[in-house]
Amino acid sequence: MSKVLKYVIANWKMHGRHVFVKDWCEQMPDHWSPNVKVVVAPPYAYIPALKALASKALSLGSQDVSIFKEDGAHTGDLSAAMLEDIGCEYVIIGHSERRALGETDAQLKSKLENVKVAGLTPVFCVGESLQVRQGGRAWDFVAAQLELIADYPKDLPLIIAYEPIWAIGTGETASVEDVEHMHGLILGRMSRPVLYGGSVKASNAKELMGAQGVSGALVGGASLKPLEFFTIVDAAS
Ligand code: PGA
Repeated sequence: MSKVLKYVIANWKMHGRHVFVKDWCEQMPDHWSPNVKVVVAPPYAYIPALKALASKALSLGSQDVSIFKEDGAHTGDLSAAMLEDIGCEYVIIGHSERRALGETDAQLKSKLENVKVAGLTPVFCVGESLQVRQGGRAWDFVAAQLELIADYPKDLPLIIAYEPIWAIGTGETASVEDVEHMHGLILGRMSRPVLYGGSVKASNAKELMGAQGVSGALVGGASLKPLEFFTIVDAAS
């Protein structure tokens, strides 16, 4: 019986240099378990270097994408078509660190549309702040965020990442009970792989990824330490 596919997605955020990419790739195993899909989203500038150095077992992702679909006078932007052209397959959309910079629902909609047209897979991030959770409104908040993908075509791949904001980069993780509860609610609304993100590390990866309704992890800080990241990949299989 084949096992359920798990995703482990590395989000390097604004970290790395060529020497880092090279070192990271040198420590990478030649292959993983076929049950695990490993994706790395480096800063845009290092996507080609990662593509050149990484083994074929790894898929490339992007941390964001332009709201504009067509080429044009959009200084500083990178389109979904360009990401597809350079070998990306996955695009993180709506990460809380980008939402915090003022990303609007209309912009998120455009990004989802552009990624869809380019044939890439969105990794759509949702998650509540500590204040919202303590106010007992975590699910209402996440449910509202999910509205943006409610009409995304069911036959096209889309991954959801549940990342409680208070757990990102803080060393705090949601309890397995909280994760299972939230993932259950999300899965009750839509049938998509739901990853957990927020201080996933080698020491808690097995427990979190083994939780009910969890299809893998979106990993920030720990993905910068290659051996720790590969231990997380192993924990997914
Ligand atoms: P973290 O980041 O693993 O460093 O908490 C996760 C994320 O922001 O995707």
